[in-house]
Amino acid sequence: MSVECFVTGGSGFVGQHLLAHLTTAGHKTWVLMRSPENIGRLRDQVSQLGGDPALVHVVEGDISRDGLGLSDAGKQCVSSASVVFHLAAQFSWGLTMERARAVNVQGALNVARLAASQRIRLLMVGGFMLQNLGHLASVGVDNEHPENTHWPTVYGRVGGYEGSKLEAHFAVIRYMREVGADYTIVHPATVCGHSQSGHILQGQPLAGLIRNLAQGRFKAVPGSARHWLPLVSVDYLVTMITCVALDPTMVNRQVLALDEDTPNLQGMLEQMAKTLQVKAPRLHVPIAVLRWLLMIPGLPARLAISAESLDFIQTQRFDMAESKQLERNYQFSHPDIWQTLEMTVRYVNGHLRNQGNH
Ligand SMILES: NC(=O)c1ccc[n+]([C@@H]2O[C@H](COP(=O)([O-])OP(=O)(O)OC[C@H]3O[C@@H](n4cnc5c(N)ncnc54)[C@H](OP(=O)(O)O)[C@@H]3O)[C@@H](O)[C@H]2O)c1
Repeated sequence: MSVECFVTGGSGFVGQHLLAHLTTAGHKTWVLMRSPENIGRLRDQVSQLGGDPALVHVVEGDISRDGLGLSDAGKQCVSSASVVFHLAAQFSWGLTMERARAVNVQGALNVARLAASQRIRLLMVGGFMLQNLGHLASVGVDNEHPENTHWPTVYGRVGGYEGSKLEAHFAVIRYMREVGADYTIVHPATVCGHSQSGHILQGQPLAGLIRNLAQGRFKAVPGSARHWLPLVSVDYLVTMITCVALDPTMVNRQVLALDEDTPNLQGMLEQMAKTLQVKAPRLHVPIAVLRWLLMIPGLPARLAISAESLDFIQTQRFDMAESKQLERNYQFSHPDIWQTLEMTVRYVNGHLRNQGNH
């Protein structure tokens, strides 16, 4: 059965793949765009990713504006949708708290208000750190009573992007509960390229990491042999997002999209280095030491690494029971992570090698 969908962040990396996936399944999509003149390029991209560009329609708007700045015609389009997929975010390191909040927190609340006012399910994309309760506590988030969290302290510890993703998550749940509206949340690990083509966009953290390795900027492996950077392929992620968004049993629930077969960071870097035909770093450097080094002016730029990105490298393992149940229900599974990594490295090396980092 095909439905109509409203998508924010459709021009982004995950968004493009989601549009391709939704339109392949015959769903008509309305895409919120700040620059609607780019719709032709987005349709071409959706077509290249195997989707149906004729099913992609644009609605002009900006999530940081009241009511997303929609015209009456735009509101009409939203009202015909069965699901609001909220993917839009200001996704970069070094954001000020004000900027990150305006888009990622107020923007998410604006989208939530719109979905709730139209009685449409909200599918929100969070992040896997929200399922790491030890980490949340260590950075100052009160998971039991989020309203008691002192957010400026959290932003000071984790930076603008992650701080705003954490704050948005709790703010949206609180709002949706207050008004009795339906939501579902998917928490992705760091997103890897497509398992078949390796397609990934410039600006993605993993693409930046691959370029750094290719350019010999990785001198040591951050953390110990137990540290890993959990990954998920973009194809698995959009399959999961689509399944749960339309599943009545997933109302007001959250699920992780994370491949627990992701190797440890050292193994991951070795495999990438092999594909790139460069030397892999062998020495380990404790995260705390690296964090300290990155406080030296000029070093983050020279090493092309941001202290904010280090939070995503950790030793925590996750309970994947719920995700596995969904995989069984809908009969999908993670593609082989080693092959997905290899394809992603080849794609970055072939297409994005000389472009700037995140
Ligand atoms: N990629 C990952 O590794 C990862 C991991 C965990 C969670 N996530 C989450 O997954 C979601 C999608 O990530 P992504 O990697 O696809 O991000 P992305 O490639 O950076 O795309 C961001 C999207 O948000 C849109 N956007 C930004 N500000 C906006 C505004 N004010 N109004 C309307 N649209 C706006 C951008 O539109 P323009 O084209 O106009 O710039 C773009 O379409 C985000 O919520 C992110 O936090 C991503």
